[in-house]
Amino acid sequence: MAEQTKPWRIIAVRRLSEDQLAALSTVAEVDYFEDVNEANRADFQSALSRAHGLIGGKLDLDEAMLAKAPALQVISTISVGYDHLPLEALNRRGILLCNTPDVLTETTADTAFALIMATQRRLVELADLVREGDWREHIGREHFGVDVHGKTLGIVGAGRIGAAIAKRGALGFGMPILYTAASPKPALEQELGAKQHGLEALLEQADIVCLSVPYNDDTHYLIDADALARMKPTAALVNVARGKVVDEPALVEALHVGRIRAAGLDVFAEEPLPANSPLVAMDNVVTTPHIGSATHETREAMAQLAVDNLMGSLTNSGPRTAVNEDVWRRAAAEAKEV
Ligand code: DGY
Repeated sequence: MAEQTKPWRIIAVRRLSEDQLAALSTVAEVDYFEDVNEANRADFQSALSRAHGLIGGKLDLDEAMLAKAPALQVISTISVGYDHLPLEALNRRGILLCNTPDVLTETTADTAFALIMATQRRLVELADLVREGDWREHIGREHFGVDVHGKTLGIVGAGRIGAAIAKRGALGFGMPILYTAASPKPALEQELGAKQHGLEALLEQADIVCLSVPYNDDTHYLIDADALARMKPTAALVNVARGKVVDEPALVEALHVGRIRAAGLDVFAEEPLPANSPLVAMDNVVTTPHIGSATHETREAMAQLAVDNLMGSLTNSGPRTAVNEDVWRRAAAEAKEV
């Protein structure tokens, strides 16, 4: 029997289970890439020139690459953030972009809270002291941390993840909550007693400033030297957003001279964080390798949502979570007219 040709060609890059790849294979020829690197770039580009869909965890595509992908209809990124993709160019080309919100909210909020605990109580530094055999007597003031409970938590960007961090702080640790957001959040105010502030007032009043804004032109270097100078010298900065929301050299300087007390960072201007970054060696900094959503359960749920988005978009039942939904609506309306 002649093999049935499948209507679609898709590229999958990383992070999919065998079951998910098998599901995609029921509707499409799948070109799978564990990674895209110098050695396989030519193969990737050749697959891209034929692909209708693209799914993966870290798909860095620029406009020049899109120009070589004439059939591309959908990109399904396995992330909530999409700052690595050129949204305007996708809109112009009528390419649908799907992302994975909601399923990672609670896990990312857990990560933020882990960093809050670690920076306030110096967990990594003091665990290292034990590991290195340097716990020789009862610890004294020089190793004391700072309380978490009751401290004022400033959430910069009270979207889904920011709200989940605020909830943990207010309900679990009795923390007064301040937040910035484009519009007031009545639910947060009623349920948690949270108060909306401008960024400057929040920085001046919070004991812990937690960043959970999307990265874009408006948030590039939102936390620069001036912003850091507004923070209390006893305050800590926690970043689970994107590295370039913070002016990293200014942060290093502020931590070095004690303009702020500590930082807990899951994201960096350059990732992986270079081993010689000054942040790596600082005792008052906790660094984690962009693990915001990195649990088995959540990464599986993100991959499944991305698969559903891609299959739904190609087979006309529609995506579950699209960034540029207009592109989908226009395509659906055109399909009806034909
Ligand atoms: C996201 O989903 O955007 C997280 O930062 C993981 O990349």
